[in-house]
Amino acid sequence: MASEPARSLVSSARKARTRARAGYSGFKVGAALQTNGRKIYSGCNIENASYGLSVCAERVALLKAVSEGVRKFRALAVVTGAEKLTPPCGACRQLLWEYCGDIAVHLANLKGKAKTYQLSELLPHAFDKRHL
Ligand code: THU
Repeated sequence: MASEPARSLVSSARKARTRARAGYSGFKVGAALQTNGRKIYSGCNIENASYGLSVCAERVALLKAVSEGVRKFRALAVVTGAEKLTPPCGACRQLLWEYCGDIAVHLANLKGKAKTYQLSELLPHAFDKRHL
């Protein structure tokens, strides 16, 4: 992950992670989504006593942006404290594909380990409106 834009996106995700409400799992996640206009929308995971209502960091960031009218995205960063890099869950991949298309996905941890994927690598053979 050499590029400066990726570094600043990861740093936004890292900051968002500090706001995670992850009292049940203890697993704090931060996400940051960059628009084509280079604006950044961030999100953290928000858990609930009714566990199934918990929302992932990626979906919080995505829904914030979409609800503000953003329609074009460039990249996503996801940061956790885990040794093994954390990719978006399956449900988030599906939503990201629908609203962002084949964006770059930068995964990073707190130790500075990082790897970049295209969303199409994380969600091959995606189901989308072309199949309807
Ligand atoms: N989580 C995310 O926010 N994003 C991911 O990419 C993986 C999982 C959250 C959901 C839950 O609050 C906690 O991490 C443990 O699964």
